[in-house]
Amino acid sequence: MEEQQNSSREHTSFLVFSASLRSGSLNTKLAKLAVKVIEKHGGTVDFADMEVFECPTFNQDLEVDNYHPEGAEAFRKRILANDAMIISSPEYNGSMPGNFKNIIDWTSRFRPQPFHQFHALLMSASPSMAGGNRGLWALRVPFEHLGTRVYPDMFSLATAHEAFDEDGSLKDKTLAKRFEDNLVAFMNQVEASKHYPCIKKAWVEFLGEKTAKETERVE
Ligand code: FNR
Repeated sequence: MEEQQNSSREHTSFLVFSASLRSGSLNTKLAKLAVKVIEKHGGTVDFADMEVFECPTFNQDLEVDNYHPEGAEAFRKRILANDAMIISSPEYNGSMPGNFKNIIDWTSRFRPQPFHQFHALLMSASPSMAGGNRGLWALRVPFEHLGTRVYPDMFSLATAHEAFDEDGSLKDKTLAKRFEDNLVAFMNQVEASKHYPCIKKAWVEFLGEKTAKETERVE
């Protein structure tokens, strides 16, 4: 059944990364688990180390001769090469990591602005009971400001230091299912957004109809 579903899936590719630079990061663990789930469900993954997106502290004075730091250029390229991004971000003092906001600010300076209409799913992991969820609400603000389609559901892993098995899966099977369902729902949305307009156009052409409200049978 699952194979059948995957074989009927249209191609989608996901930029996946952790917004933590720490070796042994819990968010990197969660991001790597997302990779497994996406591949299991027929998606293509482009996994990035956040290190490659690092930028100097933002200063508008540096913006001469169309200057963009290499890290921002790398982030922009990876966004353009994929259909969506999945970020697992730590929460620092109830908000997002400062260096990640800095990267977002630099990357927002390209034209066309690369976050606009790009899909994103936000996740977090923390040893705390709230799993770093407040940090994700903070992260939503700049992304939504930039026109990113931030998926409504978010996944926050509480007591993350105790949550993983040796093989990187989640010990709690109910939570593992919730994680998988969240990712699959996001994949479905990205697939529909990328491919549905084409299907609609082909269907309308097949019917030989114009896309007028009155004649629309696609719905
Ligand atoms: C934290 N941590 C933390 N955790 C949390 O749930 N809410 C918070 O507000 C904070 N604040 C905070 C501030 C600073 C400066 C640090 C260094 C840490 C703990 C944090 O969630 C924990 O260190 C995670 O393990 C960090 O994520 P990675 O690096 O494991 O992915």
